[in-house]
Amino acid sequence: MGTLGSPLIFYDMAIEDKIRELVELRVKARLGGGEKRIESQHAKGKMTARERIAYFLDEGSFEEYDMFVTHRSHNFGMEEQKFLSDGVVTGHGTVDGRVVFIFAQDFTVFGGSLSETYALKICKIMDQAMKVGAPVIGLNDSGGARIQEGVTSLAGYAEIFQRNIMASGVIPQLSAVFGPCAGGAVYSPALTDFIVMSDKTSYMFVTGPKVVKTVTGEDITTEDLGGAITHASKSGVSHFVVDSEEEGLLLLRKLLSYLPQNNLEEPPVTDCHDPIERKEDALNSIIPDHPNKPYDMKDVISLIVDESEYLEVQRRYARNIITAFAKFNGMPVGIVANQPNYLAGVLDIESSRKAARFVRFCDAFNIPIVTLVDVPGFLPGSMQEYGGIISHGAKLLYAYGEATVPKVTVTLRKSYGGAHDVMSSKQLRGDINYAWPTAEIAVMGASGAIEVLYAKELAACKTSEERAVFVAEKTLEYNHKFATPYQAAAYGYIDDVIEPRNTRFRVIRALQMLATKKDTNPPKKHGNIPL
Ligand code: HXC
Repeated sequence: MGTLGSPLIFYDMAIEDKIRELVELRVKARLGGGEKRIESQHAKGKMTARERIAYFLDEGSFEEYDMFVTHRSHNFGMEEQKFLSDGVVTGHGTVDGRVVFIFAQDFTVFGGSLSETYALKICKIMDQAMKVGAPVIGLNDSGGARIQEGVTSLAGYAEIFQRNIMASGVIPQLSAVFGPCAGGAVYSPALTDFIVMSDKTSYMFVTGPKVVKTVTGEDITTEDLGGAITHASKSGVSHFVVDSEEEGLLLLRKLLSYLPQNNLEEPPVTDCHDPIERKEDALNSIIPDHPNKPYDMKDVISLIVDESEYLEVQRRYARNIITAFAKFNGMPVGIVANQPNYLAGVLDIESSRKAARFVRFCDAFNIPIVTLVDVPGFLPGSMQEYGGIISHGAKLLYAYGEATVPKVTVTLRKSYGGAHDVMSSKQLRGDINYAWPTAEIAVMGASGAIEVLYAKELAACKTSEERAVFVAEKTLEYNHKFATPYQAAAYGYIDDVIEPRNTRFRVIRALQMLATKKDTNPPKKHGNIPL
């Protein structure tokens, strides 16, 4: 890509005239595509690019770049239609006093569509963010490639993609989608760490409903194909749905509060006013008497983290596993927890993918991982096998095993079979592995085990009553021996069996001890995670 061209012509003017000219140009630039288009943006319930930036950043902290950039296209009479800033507002500012780089696509200028110079503006801030080691926030609202520009627009996208890839795992990259985001344009947000979508006013798809109808005959609305709820609940492409842009911008600020500026820094520790030794008696009775009865893992999370506050990621997707940011004694952590309340907390394709990505994000940015285990195993069946549960489950296994951040695991109840190994077990370099006395750590649950171990005896039972009595007897025997944490504790796979009400304190102690943990992986170009 070339360098940015200057749209300005300098005249021999008095200094005050030059300053007036500057002020006028700034006023003009700030109007983007003009008042009418701003009104139309507001009429759709949307903010302008500059309004979004002003709302997001600390007050008065925005330093704008490249306000005077215009496009260079000569096609379709474009010379006559130039707008200062060319459809994207870029620069840097602060969030809670920490530097961030930001770009906001301006729908009032050619529908926020991307030109060559527009791409250069985004690349400039991305390059600087990499040098400085600060997050990049992208606010998307665009009709995609600027049609009048042809391939230079495609090249511009690819320049941005390449930078997204290089920045991945080095600086946090956060995206909000507050309007259209279609075609290849979806791939820049998709390459970033988190996507926030505004409900009813945003959509993302590779191809829109009209083309879908032509190619496949399927009738589908924009909302159903690529709306915020679709991507939050069905595809898992988006991580957060918000009802308003304001809510989305505040959520991005909140998300940043858990993250370091870059991969060489530690996440920011804040003052904690919640006593670390707080005991929660409710935890001692939270596990139901019957092993198949559910409870809400979110109640456990609320009771143990600072101020009961956590930020759930992908709340609507793969609800059998919870991924969330929270703090323990002011230290940010990533929580991964099976959710017995949904599909019994089983590991399936979607939950494995969701948790694997979250674990890898935390590991990339030095955020310790606290894992809460209550998992009956992997979901069996042809749907799962045909969908590749083997590869997807292996992603989570890989992610945990590769992670070098502090890993603290608490097993609350079930931890069966392969799923036991996957969920941050000792052998996957789990640093501290605790279990509650209610933990059941075994190869499989009693009913499955009895079917296998006593197949002959069961076949010999003459009546169903006889069979029931036999199964009950053997279940008792099996549970007594295996449905406990003590066999695992006897081998040192569990470091300690803890009283549930002490969980907060024990987790914090573990995290404090692990604060200086150093672990590495062998040198390599990169591993081959089963994608
Ligand atoms: C140039 C564009 C544009 C585009 C919109 N505009 N998209 N100009 N290139 N891609 C202009 C319109 O001409 C209009 O100009 C203004 O932006 C607002 O657009 P409207 O259509 O009036 O707005 P709305 O009704 O809200 O519809 C928004 C829209 C629609 C759904 C985004 O504009 C649209 O379908 N645009 C085309 C989308 C598209 O096919 N893009 C290319 C995708 S392929 P005026 O002057 O009237 O205000 C792609 C490949 C990327 O992006 C590949 C990367 C690898």
